[in-house]
Amino acid sequence: MPSRSPSFSTRVVAWQRRHGRTGLPWQGTRDPYRIWVSEIMLQQTQVAAAIPFFERFVARFPDVGTLAGAPVDEVMRLWSGLGYYARARNLHKAARAVVDGHGGRFPLSVDQLVALPGVGRSTAAAIAAFATGERHAILDGNVKRVMARHFGVDGAVDSAPVLAKLWALADSLVPARGVEGYTQGLMDLGATVCTRTSPACGNCPVRATCVALRDARIAELPQRKRSRPVPARAIAMLAVVSRGEVLVEKRPARGIWGGLWSLPEAPEDADPADWVERAFGLAVDSVEPLEPFTHAFTHFTLEVRPWLVTVKGAARAAREPFATWLAIQEAPAAALPAPVKKLIARLPREAPSRGVSARAGSGAGSRGGRRGR
Ligand code: ADE
Repeated sequence: MPSRSPSFSTRVVAWQRRHGRTGLPWQGTRDPYRIWVSEIMLQQTQVAAAIPFFERFVARFPDVGTLAGAPVDEVMRLWSGLGYYARARNLHKAARAVVDGHGGRFPLSVDQLVALPGVGRSTAAAIAAFATGERHAILDGNVKRVMARHFGVDGAVDSAPVLAKLWALADSLVPARGVEGYTQGLMDLGATVCTRTSPACGNCPVRATCVALRDARIAELPQRKRSRPVPARAIAMLAVVSRGEVLVEKRPARGIWGGLWSLPEAPEDADPADWVERAFGLAVDSVEPLEPFTHAFTHFTLEVRPWLVTVKGAARAAREPFATWLAIQEAPAAALPAPVKKLIARLPREAPSRGVSARAGSGAGSRGGRRGR
């Protein structure tokens, strides 16, 4: 008698039990609030990096009501370092929507979950599956890769027809029982075995039926639409310091690092001293170039040319509440983007002494140097 081999989901569930990730701080609970926070963090952050952020976040905001009642600045501060800050703003907005629209009880239906800011179809399904054990299919980037390879799905996985095919496939595979283990198993498989480059096919529980492995097409699948080259944007970033403090500005809610504090920016070719004098009415003492760096965002690369601008101690006007002085020592705990924290950490703690810092880079038009006003 031919024996039927175990189904795809049976093998994934069995593998998850032995080799998947267990004991994580958002597992072993049916609390949709904790599950939601973790799923939002894990959208663009790896498990190991998310754990300390998750623990701090739920210690400070143990339930959706506490989060909804907190100032958004504090939410941003606890998110600082995780990146993709729209997630934090949406989390706060969604908490308010749960309080205002659902009487503070976290919704459990996929339709209500996808209506919350920052929650897409796959995230809603993951929250519902983990919080209720009901059958819901997920399809995040990792799962698309597993499906496209295992079932040999051709065509761009970010195109509408292929997406529809993958969702139908994902739906058909969800087991009747053990949905949590299966969902977690798919995520773990995609993150730790069926990785984008160098997948560990030897450790894969579904290798016996993997079309891509059989046909030597692992490197070819999944396919994507041709991606455009990532554009670069260059800016000057001004570390304006005085007496152990640095001037920080609140960024607008929209755009990169929205809602965080950051160092003032200027056009790449702006004269740093002029800019600081005009924008802030501060008298500049010296200007010094710092080490340039780049930071990759999803849609572009930011090329940052930082300048150390030391201002005279006396007149320290700052346009509160949009700009303020921050003690350099307090920067590590402030709501600043990670690369900006790194830059501030390298600043001299004391203002450079007169005469040392009269270098303003070599670019045409950079006047720089010590400013005697
Ligand atoms: N990625 C998204 N959600 C996840 C989860 N619950 N566990 C591991 N990785 C994930």
